[in-house]
Amino acid sequence: MESTLEKLVQATQNDFLPLNGTDYIELWVGNAKQAAHFYKTAFGFQSLAYAGPETGVKDRTSYVLVQNKMRLMLTSPLHSDSEIAVHHKKHGDGVKVLALWVDDAYDAFEQTTKRGGKAYMQPITLTDEQGEVRMSGIHTYGEVVHLFIERKNYAGAFMPGFRKWESTYNPEPVGLLYVDHCVGNVGWNQMNPWVSFYENVMGFKNILSFDDKDISTEYSALMSKVMSNGNGFVKFPINEPAEGKRKSQVEEYLEFYEGEGTQHIAIATHDIVSTVKQLMARGVEFLKVPNTYYDDLLDRVGPIDEPLEPLKELGILVDRDEEGYLLQLFTKPVEDRPTMFYEIIQRKGAKSFGKGNFKALFEAIEREQELRGNI
Ligand code: FE2
Repeated sequence: MESTLEKLVQATQNDFLPLNGTDYIELWVGNAKQAAHFYKTAFGFQSLAYAGPETGVKDRTSYVLVQNKMRLMLTSPLHSDSEIAVHHKKHGDGVKVLALWVDDAYDAFEQTTKRGGKAYMQPITLTDEQGEVRMSGIHTYGEVVHLFIERKNYAGAFMPGFRKWESTYNPEPVGLLYVDHCVGNVGWNQMNPWVSFYENVMGFKNILSFDDKDISTEYSALMSKVMSNGNGFVKFPINEPAEGKRKSQVEEYLEFYEGEGTQHIAIATHDIVSTVKQLMARGVEFLKVPNTYYDDLLDRVGPIDEPLEPLKELGILVDRDEEGYLLQLFTKPVEDRPTMFYEIIQRKGAKSFGKGNFKALFEAIEREQELRGNI
């Protein structure tokens, strides 16, 4: 039998777009300085790098935060005529860049654009005294873009154009490790075209599909296909709304984001009970399923290592597949518009996405939609 390592090596050899993982995620926000404070205080991110007028960047400020392997960039415009200001006026705060870590940014651009990817950034080489970063980029759904970042010859804090950000305010990390997956919400009948984009332009594979029978409640439905790159380090589920009795959560997102965009970012932890406890203590709000969810939980998922009581107390969800189980929990949207949110996930063998929790979860989301008058 082939070992997992052999399979991984083989998948990488046949891959025209080898990815080492997510490099960073950039949000375009109304007030990057305050958002950075929020992500440090509430989510335990650490100050890493800064760019703005002081570093020679005239039209924006960018704050880069880090926690273990996850980097988050927060960018705001300095003038009303900037594309960032236009983006923010339309969408509110949201994801602009899902940056991917590659060994060759020039080749990534060549491989994807020759397969039909629409150029966003021609390959460039940025240099400073710490070395060089090469990057390029293509468009994906909505106004989101993928940047390809090559940093093997760079020793600085982040990349040229940024200075190291030293802060006297450094709240403790909460155990967030890396980006597990990022979900895109696309319009009616747009899921399959974007699935084809990830297959043909980026060499991803569709590893899981959910239809409206899997993901529906009495009122609303959605369809989803999970796209993964060859080594499985980068996963992008794509959702589209499905016909239901009332407005679905994807429709609500599309309406309030005024278009397609990134719905949630799932971040991995090794200890979800500890991570969620700290996030809650710092004011992060989570969706809550009814306590009855826990009545027959162990009958549904079988034995788990964690004691049930703290899971119930924190509202953590559990699901099992053929390979193991996972624990997960979803925040409420982190902006005033009901748009982007975060998932905290701990995988114990399971490679799936919590299908068994969809119904309970969507009913929790619908209760929130009802409070907003959007159902
Ligand atoms: Fe997710």
